[in-house]
Amino acid sequence: MCGIVGYLGFRRADQVIISALKRLEYRGYDSWGVAVKHGNGLELIKRVGAIGDVENYSLAEGNIGIGHTRWATHGKPSEINAHPHTDCNNKIAVVHNGIISNFQSLREDLKSRGHEFTSETDTEVIAHLIEEEYRGDLKEAMMKAVERLKGSYAIVVMHVDKEELVAVRYKSPLVIGIGDGECFIASDVPAVLDYTNRVIYLEDGDIVKMWNNGFIIWNNGKEVERKIDTIPWSIEDSEKGGYEHFMLKEIHETPRVIEDTLFEYLSEDIDIDVSFSAGISEIVFVACGTSYHASLIGRYLIEKLTGIPARVEFASEFIYNPPPISRTLVIAITQSGETADTLEAMRIAKKHGARVVAIVNVLGSTATRIADYILYTRAGPEISVAATKSFIAQLIVLYLLALKLSKLPGSEIEKLIEELRIMPEIVRRILEHEEKIEQIAEEIANFEDMMYIGRGIGVPIAMEGALKMKEISYIHAEAYPAGELKHGPFALLGKHTPVIALLIPDETYEIMLNNIKEVKARESLVVAVADEDDAEVEKYVDFVIRVPKTNSVFTAVTHSVALQLLAYYTARKRGCEIDKPRNLAKSVTVE
Ligand code: G6P
Repeated sequence: MCGIVGYLGFRRADQVIISALKRLEYRGYDSWGVAVKHGNGLELIKRVGAIGDVENYSLAEGNIGIGHTRWATHGKPSEINAHPHTDCNNKIAVVHNGIISNFQSLREDLKSRGHEFTSETDTEVIAHLIEEEYRGDLKEAMMKAVERLKGSYAIVVMHVDKEELVAVRYKSPLVIGIGDGECFIASDVPAVLDYTNRVIYLEDGDIVKMWNNGFIIWNNGKEVERKIDTIPWSIEDSEKGGYEHFMLKEIHETPRVIEDTLFEYLSEDIDIDVSFSAGISEIVFVACGTSYHASLIGRYLIEKLTGIPARVEFASEFIYNPPPISRTLVIAITQSGETADTLEAMRIAKKHGARVVAIVNVLGSTATRIADYILYTRAGPEISVAATKSFIAQLIVLYLLALKLSKLPGSEIEKLIEELRIMPEIVRRILEHEEKIEQIAEEIANFEDMMYIGRGIGVPIAMEGALKMKEISYIHAEAYPAGELKHGPFALLGKHTPVIALLIPDETYEIMLNNIKEVKARESLVVAVADEDDAEVEKYVDFVIRVPKTNSVFTAVTHSVALQLLAYYTARKRGCEIDKPRNLAKSVTVE
């Protein structure tokens, strides 16, 4: 997720901005840049990689400037693609967080009118649009430019002729920091906390003009007042947005991540180019860890919705025993795009002549260079080692892919797409009731073994739920298809082993209830995850985690978010170091 900073005041803008950008490093970035106004010119610096020491950099003296940390989305990480971006005459500089979905057509249009582009980014169109509209009033020009943008954006712009900054927010966060004789604007509070704890959170559609000692906010053409908040957090707390851990913050980012990922591929209809699927007879997923579980759900969706046979291989095993590949599409799923086993599996698949698609979160990562085709998830950087929001983003891409390849009747596909569109809202509703999950977590936190059970799509959901639990709480948690309990795991059940049972509103429901009764007969405590309309399950279990009712295929989202929270609160109750579990790494770059 990109980070934005703007400053006007009495200090040296370059030093303030670079140190503020460092405060946004936790968001993740691959390149960065700063523009400072001095006299009637602009001085820019752009770099790839980490910022390092603030003292290493010195731009011209000036008290107005903007800066940016970039997490690449359109165009690879490079100095040219790093922000700020400028207009043809180097008078206007722009930083942007978000995605401009119609940038291609705007770019073509601007080029045809003589504008010269230097980068591959979506952002650069904004600088040129403002240039087109500028008649001496920067705010007016910004308003006109924004009217032509589709997508999500937080934008800050400066002009060499103006002692002001203008910013606008739509679906990407922006906060104003109010100082004494100085003003800040940033994508997040940590950027300003070294200087002030008085902030205003801008709302969607807000446009703000700032001077060193004041600002005006408009929305819908009218001047508006916004509440000033006083932030009580330390810098460290504020990087986590007030959450105790990155993991919880990232779970709470899920609705936005779903929106962003849908936004990328779903306008009127599903906008994924599936030419890679022409003539294929089977799909093989390769992945590790949580991405492996996303693959298992992917297989379920592909087989159920498209009828194409699909298999899933651990990337580390695929390496030794690549299946015969003819007319096979290999789909590699990887958050980081750097997991060594997954990369090797991709290389081997290519060597055997398979077409390789990567579902990946990090732009420019190695997986994106190996793959023949890339489908990005829009989860933004994930800091907690345990994957949460990125897993849900992977599922969203898999839903879209399976629906796009689906042979279901159009009306059924449409119904599913409509439901997919409301998933952000559904997840918000789960998050609103998380204290209930916390209470249940307190009931199970003292056990040392757990069993997760499900049927159908419930099996991979159970596997991912158990993985979350073991990763961060260090409780030994196993996942089993409920029907397999009788072939061994029953021997492990009893008062000492709680069972987490996943109820899916499909043909597996009734038999799952029977399995739960069998488990209860062995005296295990049972926590069920079931939908709000299920009046039956509570008769048989000790606790129920309720989630909104959805089509059964979307329980992979609802139940998984609930299980992420269950693992989180269990680990928290046990006092575990949640964001960096012992012995684990976010990205495993060795085989
Ligand atoms: C590590 C991480 C897991 C992740 C797995 C695969 O083990 O701790 O959270 O699921 O790698 O990572 P990838 O980046 O390929 O999805």
